[in-house]
Amino acid sequence: MKRGYQESSSSNSFAPPQSKPRYSSEDDITNNIARKVAEHYSARTNQTLEERENSPIIHLKKLNNWIKSVLIQLYAKKGDAVLDLACGKGGDLIKWDKAKIGYYVGIDIAEGSIEDCRTRYNGDADHHQRRKKFSFPARLICGDCFEVRLDRVLADDAPFDICSCQFAMHYSWSTESRARRALANVSALLRPGGIFIGTMPDSNVIVKKLREAEGLAFGNSVYWIRFDEEYSDKRFKSSNPFGIQYTFHLEDAVDCPEWIVPFHLFKSLAEENDLELVFVKNSHAFVDEYLKRPEFIELMRRLGALGDGNQDRSTLSPDEWEAAYLYSAFVLRKRGQPDQTRVDTRRDKGKMLLSKEDIMYIDGKV
Ligand SMILES: C[S@@+](CC[C@H](N)C(=O)[O-])C[C@H]1O[C@@H](n2cnc3c(N)ncnc32)[C@H](O)[C@@H]1O
Repeated sequence: MKRGYQESSSSNSFAPPQSKPRYSSEDDITNNIARKVAEHYSARTNQTLEERENSPIIHLKKLNNWIKSVLIQLYAKKGDAVLDLACGKGGDLIKWDKAKIGYYVGIDIAEGSIEDCRTRYNGDADHHQRRKKFSFPARLICGDCFEVRLDRVLADDAPFDICSCQFAMHYSWSTESRARRALANVSALLRPGGIFIGTMPDSNVIVKKLREAEGLAFGNSVYWIRFDEEYSDKRFKSSNPFGIQYTFHLEDAVDCPEWIVPFHLFKSLAEENDLELVFVKNSHAFVDEYLKRPEFIELMRRLGALGDGNQDRSTLSPDEWEAAYLYSAFVLRKRGQPDQTRVDTRRDKGKMLLSKEDIMYIDGKV
């Protein structure tokens, strides 16, 4: 099956567009890049357990899974309704299941990834030898969650208790309107007091490494980052903090255009949308802090990212540890107090077994 963003069949009312919508030229460029990102992720096939274990970044993947698990365990509560923006192939479904959530909506732009997420949710795929069914109903949507008015698409499913956007928020920073749409979507769909958790590249680290590099590229055996000549003076205008593009290559994982997200701006756009910063931590600081807690040491030991689950870093190579430093984890809280009287009907929207027809396809301009 060819997996492109705007082609698939669905019986939903939000069918994939039959012909390309007309955009202005800036929109055209942005949509082409968004499609390129979608095609990149769609084309990534599922790895067998053996391929995964032989990956040059297997311990980095395990470390990132540990970081996401810690975020989920810190904030998810039994029965929570969860919105997973850029959910990918559903790599976090097991983590949500362990948190005993009550409802899950996953959205991703890559058709192939959403299909893989569907089979993983159904327990069809032999992902890492797991065939168990999940205990929460789910809905899956294929579309651009930084372009679409998700408050309209998910009006009957909202409000959510938790929104998660793991390793993907930076894809919204290609233009100001997309960055604003991303945060407006999160805010509109979270209940007062609801939590937004995520991970994304740490722009301070990337810009520092660029300035320390001899040319416009830097990296090691597992990753490289390259900026265009346009940034040869290695300075970025504060008047134009969106669309600062670089190419990111992570061995066995990513080969995509990405965008710098200046965190102070992310924080102030979030505040404009009633989302207050709880914390932001570089992955290194995150590991140091949460590896002080016995339950997370035990989790690290089980996942096997760091040798003995504590101070022994012998399994994670120095190059993987340096790549981990490129990312940060953040938590934001939606202002206000939760409405205790709300009756919960959202579970009706999800299903315990998802057919291909259950995936909703949404056009970029909903
Ligand atoms: C690095 S993967 C992370 C996937 C998943 N969140 C995880 O942690 O395993 C990035 C994901 O972002 C998705 N993505 C990128 N741009 C997107 C957009 N505009 N709307 C929805 N998903 C997007 C990609 O298709 C890909 O699945």
